[in-house]
Amino acid sequence: MLENFKSRENRYKSLGLKENPFKIVPLFRDFHNRELCEYHEKLLVIPTELEKTMQILPIMTDRRALIYGCYGVGKTSLADLILYLSYHYHTRFCIRTIVTEDNVARAINEVLLTLCFEIMEEIQRKTLKKPIEFIKKYFIDQRHGDLLLTSIARLLGHYVESQETVSRKKHNTNLKANLGVLGFSHDISTEVEIRKEIQSYVEVLPIKTVGRYLSDFHKIIQEIGYQDIVIFIDEADHLGEIETFLKMLTKAREILFAAGYTFFVAGSPEIARHTESIGSIFDKTIFISPADFVSMKDVLEKLIKAQNSFFSITSIFTKESLDVIYEATKGVRKQFIRLAENATDIAASNGSSQIEAHHVLEALQETKDKIAFTLKDNQLKALKALSTLGFTSPSAKELQKQSGLSRPSLSKIFQELTKIGYVIKEKRGNKVLYSVSGAYLPYFEKK
Ligand SMILES: Nc1ncnc2c1ncn2[C@@H]1O[C@H](COP(=O)(O)OP(=O)(O)OP(=O)(O)O)[C@@H](O)[C@H]1O
Ligand SMILES: [Mg+2]
Repeated sequence: MLENFKSRENRYKSLGLKENPFKIVPLFRDFHNRELCEYHEKLLVIPTELEKTMQILPIMTDRRALIYGCYGVGKTSLADLILYLSYHYHTRFCIRTIVTEDNVARAINEVLLTLCFEIMEEIQRKTLKKPIEFIKKYFIDQRHGDLLLTSIARLLGHYVESQETVSRKKHNTNLKANLGVLGFSHDISTEVEIRKEIQSYVEVLPIKTVGRYLSDFHKIIQEIGYQDIVIFIDEADHLGEIETFLKMLTKAREILFAAGYTFFVAGSPEIARHTESIGSIFDKTIFISPADFVSMKDVLEKLIKAQNSFFSITSIFTKESLDVIYEATKGVRKQFIRLAENATDIAASNGSSQIEAHHVLEALQETKDKIAFTLKDNQLKALKALSTLGFTSPSAKELQKQSGLSRPSLSKIFQELTKIGYVIKEKRGNKVLYSVSGAYLPYFEKK
């Protein structure tokens, strides 16, 4: 038996594949890397209903857009695509900040911090000489004695101009440029110290001061050769509670309206529902719906073709298996790719030449078993009932009846499940409502 595991023989041979072609690929995540992004272009399927909007988004300036949709539907990929296009084709400086439970209250400070470091990275990437002179002069003339700008100038001071090839300790690579080369002249520990200083300073800055720095940085990026700045704030939808995020947006209103800045926020439908109540911050709201059946097949086929261009979707899947995948995942991109991946493994280990419906059903059952194994009985009961009812409060009689649990137990269970990501909590008025997180819906929804 062990000999089988040791064997290097291709396990996907029966399907005619070299390896499992289905995997979650965070498209355009590294948007600076043009070559990688060009490869990702081959995997991308732009939803038909968004084709027109996509013509505008990478060139839209001084605006705020909310990209929203359910879990795993493709929000981050679309926003990263916009950054890739804006950065490489429209000379716009782009940054991405991820909002987490820990930094949500000071997300705007996080934006400023990312911006500081990205600008320095950019100068390093481009080995630019002139902007440094400009920046230093600007800092001295305009903002003499300012702690943040002085720290940045100190860091930039680490790049010494020279005409020779210099070896940079940090990346251990050789850099050459015609116009002059910038290299470190100080040790890494001093740099780390200054970076830490910058971080602790920026973290506690009041919004007004953040605004002033943003206008400084806008001037600087223009000097580096960019037209304006595009900021993508991601992952807002993975927060257990969205109130803090909404409060942060309201507080940061004047920042979001800073001249020379365009903001993209990726969020859940709940955030979109609340945008009315937080005032009209967003000029554009872009809803990403799950893929239709044809679009799902397109996405899967592109992943197959990336490995073997002669293959089509029907070389791998039976018609029925695709129907089962679509039925279970409702076209949510992250879900159907993952289910296809698991079904492929099962079909391959059975030595089948195609993925059939029963392989998909088996893959679904495997995940259900895993969930059942990690959760307690009462948690499962509560989740099953919640999945059939949608947004519900523990005080709802129907929920208590279906789950067989009391209001206090439901409250406690939902609190536990919110913490571990199975359940999403939302305040509506003075009511607290819960729903099953999109990531787990396919495994709970009744047929
Ligand atoms: N337009 C697309 N074309 C092809 N594949 C896509 C597309 N959008 C998303 N995907 C695939 O689906 C995966 C999930 O997409 P993405 O991470 O963008 O979703 P999301 O809505 O941001 O998810 P989450 O709710 O977890 O933040 C991607 O890593 C990629 O593999
Ligand atoms: Mg995302």
